[in-house]
Amino acid sequence: MEIKFIAKDIVNVKADAIIVSAYEGMKQPADDAAAVDGAMGGIISQLIKQGEIKGKLNEVTLLHSLDKLPAARVVVTGLGKKNELTTDRIRGAIAETCRRLRQKGATTIATTAHGAGINSISAESAAQVITEGAMLGLYSFRKYITGNDDNRREIKLISIAGSKAEQPAILKGISKGTILAEAANAARDMVNEPSNYMTPAQMATIAQQSADDYGLEISVLEQQQMEDMGMGALLGVAQGSQQLPRFIILLYRGNKSSRVDVALVGKGITFDSGGISIKPSEKMDEMKGDMAGGAAVMAAMNAIARLEPKINVTALIPATENLPSGSALKPGDILTTMSGKTIEVLNTDAEGRLILADALSYAAQLKPRHIVDVATLTGACMVALGQICSGAFGNNQALLDKVIAAGNEAGERMWQMPMYDEYRELIKSNVADIKNIGNRYGGAITAAKFLAEFIDNIPWVHLDIAGTSMSDKEQGYLVRGGTGVPVRTLVNLVLSLAR
Ligand code: BES
Ligand code: MN
Ligand code: ZN
Repeated sequence: MEIKFIAKDIVNVKADAIIVSAYEGMKQPADDAAAVDGAMGGIISQLIKQGEIKGKLNEVTLLHSLDKLPAARVVVTGLGKKNELTTDRIRGAIAETCRRLRQKGATTIATTAHGAGINSISAESAAQVITEGAMLGLYSFRKYITGNDDNRREIKLISIAGSKAEQPAILKGISKGTILAEAANAARDMVNEPSNYMTPAQMATIAQQSADDYGLEISVLEQQQMEDMGMGALLGVAQGSQQLPRFIILLYRGNKSSRVDVALVGKGITFDSGGISIKPSEKMDEMKGDMAGGAAVMAAMNAIARLEPKINVTALIPATENLPSGSALKPGDILTTMSGKTIEVLNTDAEGRLILADALSYAAQLKPRHIVDVATLTGACMVALGQICSGAFGNNQALLDKVIAAGNEAGERMWQMPMYDEYRELIKSNVADIKNIGNRYGGAITAAKFLAEFIDNIPWVHLDIAGTSMSDKEQGYLVRGGTGVPVRTLVNLVLSLAR
């Protein structure tokens, strides 16, 4: 799909469909909708009067122009109350509109920079979020569907119409939106792939491809090197699987300093069966997505490399399966991590924190200014927050505030969770330095407290995306399967830290 700027009034654009907007409470069409209404003999005003067009958020009204316009169809998209309009509402409404038009067989669409000038939304960010909304909302994972569906058409072109004066801003927005959405969709692809394809080795292959495409430095540690470095926790999880683990390191250099500014760490469990503490079989298939944190971090690096901020970023992805077998980790086993700290493994299904223990120790040894880790870490976080926002934990309020702000900008909401010292008591072990589970309660927090043991006081944020990494329905710019959360947040964060 191509997204481009067109210096024309939308009424004069030839396309399968043009998109104009309506706001809740409006008595008559305004701006472009008014011009289209005029050309169409007043049908939009009439439908507003009759109450069919209410302007409610995500309301899509499809009209046929019957040759009264160069465009074959007109869509009136509701954007809700004008004073409540946000960039994220624009993303969602454009996504819903584009999907409806795809279903009708449209392949070319034109729109204006909806939202520009309202609630201090600039033309650039309007164009950016329209681009994101369209690309994210039209995403589908069809790689394994064979045979031709003659009725299925993809949207080929979206033109954003504006004045000559708006052209530079709109072009900038399209370009940034494209980079962000392509990265998020790359993470979605990785999550949607089944685990028989998306193995640790395949994740390393994809990382190598990114490095080649975008000029990132890469190294991939294999089992022997993990042993040499003493990564006993990562190796402990990996020992039950036939697939060999990988520790993927990507490096983006945006300035001359040798200092790492940001270390991004992502959980890369390519399948989580639970191990010997095996999970129930119902919905176990969803655990192919337990590498969503790693995928997000890898995809964010692509976008960062393309946007070229003046900052140094390292991505670390420990990748392995978590399976039961004769060689698997067992409850009661004690592991020695790269940091030297020992862990009593009381539940082999709490494996994410084990592999992250070594990855975070590795990150801390680089002495970066900031560490952000992303993981589908706990069902408890999903119980606490549902699928609406991710859990944010950390040891530094300034960095937490920046991550949460970067998330809001992306429409990827984060809710800060507590880190009181008392939670630390729950992971004390009688036989080792720490145990890998707490009690029945507050499981997302005890998991975060566990990770904090390996951070060495570096400013750090942990994002638990167990509830947000996959969607079970189509809604706004989310479709079923991987969501790409929090790729766009990570990119925004890195850009803001570089400023
Ligand atoms: N990958 C899971 C967490 C998860 C659950 C992610 C549901 C996405 C959806 C993680 O490895 C896990 O199994 N956590 C356990 C921890 C428990 C054993 C302390 C959990 O949440 O049950
Ligand atoms: Mn698990
Ligand atoms: Zn897991």
